[in-house]
Amino acid sequence: MKKLISKAKEARKKAYAPYSGFKVGAALEAKNGKIYTGSNVENASYAVTCCAERTALVKAVSEGVKSFRRIAIVADTKEPCPPCGVCRQALYEFAPKLEVIMANTRGQAEVISLGELLTCAFHSEKMRR
Ligand code: THU
Repeated sequence: MKKLISKAKEARKKAYAPYSGFKVGAALEAKNGKIYTGSNVENASYAVTCCAERTALVKAVSEGVKSFRRIAIVADTKEPCPPCGVCRQALYEFAPKLEVIMANTRGQAEVISLGELLTCAFHSEKMRR
């Protein structure tokens, strides 16, 4: 867990957040052991912004990796930083059983499952008619 958090912290240094000033780092651990990192990448057209978690996810999936065990998220917050709703949904697509490590730069961390964070999730099975 320490290693994954430290990778997320390292990734946070690359955050591009000139508009919010809120830098986030994420490290996504695949079932094959590989770790994909990401930071938030903002845009002058704010809605175009990509969160750190989705940056890491898209990096992994675009390289053919689609099974994940854990994700660590780090920000400079009073309390460990939870993933936003969009990222919860994006991660759920590939890893409904994902373990989410919410952390901050002060060394605090909390573990919660993605299922707890996104109850009654919408996913492919729910599209059945
Ligand atoms: N952000 C993330 O990177 N991950 C989250 O789960 C929450 C929000 C980013 C998006 C934006 O660049 C900044 O934090 C402020 O919302």
